[in-house]
Amino acid sequence: MAMHLFLPIFSLSLLLSLPFENATSSKDLNTLLQDCAFKALSSPKTGLPYDAKVPNNLTGVKVSAMRLISGSLRTRGVQNYNEFHIPIGVIEKPYVKRLVLVYQNLGNFSEKYYPLPNGFSYLTPVLGLLSYSGVNLSATKLPELDLRASVDKPISIKFSNVKSVPHGSLSKCVYFDLNGSVHFDIVFHGNVCKTVKQGHFSIVVKSNNASSPVPIVHAGTKKTTMNLKAWIIIGFSSVGGCILLMLVCLLVVKVLRRMKLKQMELESENNEALVIKHYAGTKSPVAGAIRTLPTMDMQFV
Ligand SMILES: *[C@@H]1O[C@H](CO)[C@@H](O)[C@H](O)[C@H]1NC(C)=O
Ligand SMILES: *[C@@H]1O[C@H](CO)[C@@H](O)[C@H](O)[C@H]1NC(C)=O
Ligand SMILES: *[C@@H]1O[C@H](CO)[C@@H](O)[C@H](O)[C@H]1NC(C)=O
Ligand SMILES: *[C@@H]1O[C@H](CO)[C@@H](O)[C@H](O)[C@H]1NC(C)=O
Ligand SMILES: *[C@@H]1O[C@H](CO)[C@@H](O)[C@H](O)[C@H]1NC(C)=O
Repeated sequence: MAMHLFLPIFSLSLLLSLPFENATSSKDLNTLLQDCAFKALSSPKTGLPYDAKVPNNLTGVKVSAMRLISGSLRTRGVQNYNEFHIPIGVIEKPYVKRLVLVYQNLGNFSEKYYPLPNGFSYLTPVLGLLSYSGVNLSATKLPELDLRASVDKPISIKFSNVKSVPHGSLSKCVYFDLNGSVHFDIVFHGNVCKTVKQGHFSIVVKSNNASSPVPIVHAGTKKTTMNLKAWIIIGFSSVGGCILLMLVCLLVVKVLRRMKLKQMELESENNEALVIKHYAGTKSPVAGAIRTLPTMDMQFV
């Protein structure tokens, strides 16, 4: 019975993780590239970028690392870290004595690790900026720090070599946060994106292709099956929830009844004691009658 209750909840969590399907592999990539980047930092000078070596299976991906002392993002920023411009006032959390900014250019692996929603295509490679504690440069599998810029002084990314926008289409900035969700924003001056957080960035275009209805139908069916699946699972979960609620109610009723019985029993015992005290030694047939009550209750259960 417990299995029946837990299964719907389990499948619901599976469904919720669907939109982040690729988040795990991009997370693994971040972990791998953090390791590569830190290896480039043997006795590094503060504030200089060091290019990292990447494994053969990632040829074309560019990674570099820059070590900074704590608070220097807040007081100085970083003027030009490849395409990234980090203004004064950016804060990192939690506090670390030194931090490392890892830069990624995913080149032709962009689509693989950061697949776009249906109908969008990349006009630039995906670029990443991630921050880590730089206290131990041999550390691996480090969690990212939390990096925040203010809304009026955001970090900007100036892309070079943006592919030309197809006629009649509008380009957009795309931002993948570290949780794997996708956000779109406007492009400034044709090649600049702005952000208040770290993550992965690119410029994309939605192909406005009215002459080919096939992808649209595909997207539609995909959505409805998703919705159907969601509803089925939500339905099952609510049925499970109802059953659970009913069971809890039954249990409460049962416990209450048992408590009441106990009390009655206690009272009857007291009565009995009283009776016994009063009519010293004589067995009371009344007490026996009261004691049959619990067996009556057992028939309910
Ligand atoms: C690339 O190779 C590294 C080992 O050098 C391995 O850990 C990683 O999973 C590989 N990545 C891909 C995408 O094949
Ligand atoms: C990306 O390009 C490099 C050469 O620049 C090539 O070796 C690699 O196979 C390409 N990878 C993909 C996934 O196309
Ligand atoms: C740095 O990290 C490495 C790998 O996790 C670990 O073996 C080493 O003890 C750490 N060093 C310090 C000083 O914490
Ligand atoms: C990722 O999700 C966690 C928990 O839901 C949240 O606290 C965090 O702010 C999110 N990170 C980003 C970059 O949105
Ligand atoms: C638009 O549709 C035409 C024909 O259906 C196709 O040849 C072309 O590649 C499509 N363009 C884009 C950007 O998807």
